[in-house]
Amino acid sequence: MKFFTEKDTLQKYLATIKLANKTIGFVPTMGALHKGHLSLIEKAKEKNDVVVVSIFVNPTQFDNVEDLKKYPKTLKNDTKLLESVSCDVLFHPSVAEIYDTNIISKKFNFDGLEHQMEGKFREGHFDGVGTIVKTLFEIVKPDKAYFGQKDFQQLQIIKKMVKKNQIPVKIKGCPIFREKDGLAMSSRNVRLTEEHRKIAPFIFKTLKKVRKKFGTKSASEINEWVQNQFKKQPLLELEYFTIAEEKTLETAETKESNKNYRAFIAVFAGKIRLIDNIRLRN
Ligand code: PAF
Repeated sequence: MKFFTEKDTLQKYLATIKLANKTIGFVPTMGALHKGHLSLIEKAKEKNDVVVVSIFVNPTQFDNVEDLKKYPKTLKNDTKLLESVSCDVLFHPSVAEIYDTNIISKKFNFDGLEHQMEGKFREGHFDGVGTIVKTLFEIVKPDKAYFGQKDFQQLQIIKKMVKKNQIPVKIKGCPIFREKDGLAMSSRNVRLTEEHRKIAPFIFKTLKKVRKKFGTKSASEINEWVQNQFKKQPLLELEYFTIAEEKTLETAETKESNKNYRAFIAVFAGKIRLIDNIRLRN
């Protein structure tokens, strides 16, 4: 696996790949890799000649200083994992290499997607994500880029950014990877205490029950039911639960047969914030 920390040398290398008419698949990450990331890399390997992974803990997308400071950094292990799935290129720039001394995000308009769910609770988060993903796309110039559906809102926002800015890259959303007990894989899971880790699968269990209820109950009835479930669960604090339409991410008031819906949830397990979502059938 080739390893780059500077954008110039990476770009020189990738220019030779392009010149040879080879396609580039790109998987941007913040490291602390798990099986979910590896599944994105495997998908990218299937469909592209060369796979580039970036590991960059992007400071501008964190609204919580503590979360940024404590974000797990496991480069040695990440490198081993990347080699185990035959990743071709790892790009691991410093903050200065990406932002120079101006560590701020650009302002984006994602046609309202940014004001829903995460946008209500994580000030400036999607401007930070937009800034780094656009910058990385400009450096790597991939043919296809792969993102997990656990961050479904992020995925829709990146699709919107690509469309609005006419960036020539195909965005591929990939299924959520789960632990055996249903907990959605996340780099933050390693920071859960033992008791919080034990109770965390309750989140997905609840979402599965929501999927069942969606056939017969209204969105507001389900919402109330979820609120009550979490009231009985003192170790988990529900931040939001919402059933939303997939394209606009607007909260569903009524069900329309020609639209797709998802249930979205954010929960604090102690100090660790976990998100998850599930596709609903109407
Ligand atoms: O999903 C993530 O890990 C990050 O938000 C991303 C897309 C790598 C941007 O920093």
